[in-house]
Amino acid sequence: MTASMTKTKNRITRRQWLRQAAGVAATAATPLFLRQSALAAGSPAPEGTTGPGSLKAHAAARGLLTGCAVNAALFRDDENFRNLLAEQYNIVVPENCLKWNILRPTPDTYAFEDADSLVAFAEAHGMKVRGHNFVWHQALPTWFAGTVNKDNARKMLVDHIRTVGGRYKGKIHSWDVVNEAIWIPDNRPDGLRSSSPWFEMLGPGYIDLAFRTAREVDPNALLTYNDYSIEYDNDEDGKKRAAVLALIRRMKADGVPLDALGIQSHIKAGGTVGFHQGLRELIDGAKALGLQVFLTELDVNDDAVATEDIAERDKIVAEVYRSYLETALEGPEVKAVLTWGASDRNTWLNKGTKFRKQHPDRLQRPLPFDADYAPTPAFFALRQALDKAKKR
Ligand code: G3I
Repeated sequence: MTASMTKTKNRITRRQWLRQAAGVAATAATPLFLRQSALAAGSPAPEGTTGPGSLKAHAAARGLLTGCAVNAALFRDDENFRNLLAEQYNIVVPENCLKWNILRPTPDTYAFEDADSLVAFAEAHGMKVRGHNFVWHQALPTWFAGTVNKDNARKMLVDHIRTVGGRYKGKIHSWDVVNEAIWIPDNRPDGLRSSSPWFEMLGPGYIDLAFRTAREVDPNALLTYNDYSIEYDNDEDGKKRAAVLALIRRMKADGVPLDALGIQSHIKAGGTVGFHQGLRELIDGAKALGLQVFLTELDVNDDAVATEDIAERDKIVAEVYRSYLETALEGPEVKAVLTWGASDRNTWLNKGTKFRKQHPDRLQRPLPFDADYAPTPAFFALRQALDKAKKR
């Protein structure tokens, strides 16, 4: 019994471990990455989860895109991760390498290597690419505050979008042009995040400027407004949802080029609030404006799940995937479903304990593949939801 199997044994039921220890032989049809990672972790390579059983095959059968955020270091260093991406997804988005703090080490230089290699990989594997993101109040480089000011902010913003959008012109399915511009605690009637450096330097007009510049530089990319905590049927999300809908309505009324709403979909298991009515209201609101809808950063935070039993936790997480996607995919508006990461090996939710306050001693399991790249119950819940979706 290997050490990892012992560890694994303690974390799942005895029956499951015995089944795994039986070392059910992987079939030749199972690709290398599953055989290597699954067997290495002591679990049998699951049948029927690749090729025609892959997420992308089931998505494509319904005219949908399904993908994930790609961590640059994992992509660079782990062949099994690259194989997983190619096997399972038809769209990818860089998790961080197109953000200002990673992309722009200095005011005059761009570090495009990671984004270039992901775009090239996607092209080689017939995958689409989302761009994330041109404008955000976070992930700004350390030089930003001392360099960008009211006098040059407009030029800095326009030059950034022209440089980055121009480099990938024709290669990007959709750009998150502005990310998270709504923040109710800033107490503006329009709900805009006035505490954003871009708002402070350029006023609310930074939003329209970004979208108009993006359209100029890449007319074929779908320009997306992306935000979070707008999914649930509670007051807090409801207020933010109303402000997001008001923003995109105002943008369309003013002729600002906007093609899609990105609903980040960072949702939680073990909670008490649902998300049916609010989510439908949001999606219907986007539809009424002629917008496509993308679920851009789906994951299920399981920190609030009381049980320590892995199998039980996974089942609860999978049920949240099923329920959320059943609502989101009810109509034809949602065209792409991306999870924020593919595997629990890399999820922002496990960086430190900020998002693991209730169970700081355990790692979260929010994604369709576990840390050994084996499909989790969430994989099957996601795939089943894709199957139930109306064909686009
Ligand atoms: O790459 C540097 C590394 O060189 C350095 O040694 C290290 C020191 O801390 O930092 C590394 O950069 C980190 C980066 O992730 C890459 O791992 C940043 O510190 C860290 O802040 C950054 O966190 C990302 C966060 O956005 C902020 O950009 C998360 O990985 C990423 O998952 C998260 O994603 C956001 C979406 O973009 C927007 N929606 C919310 C979502 C979750 O917060």
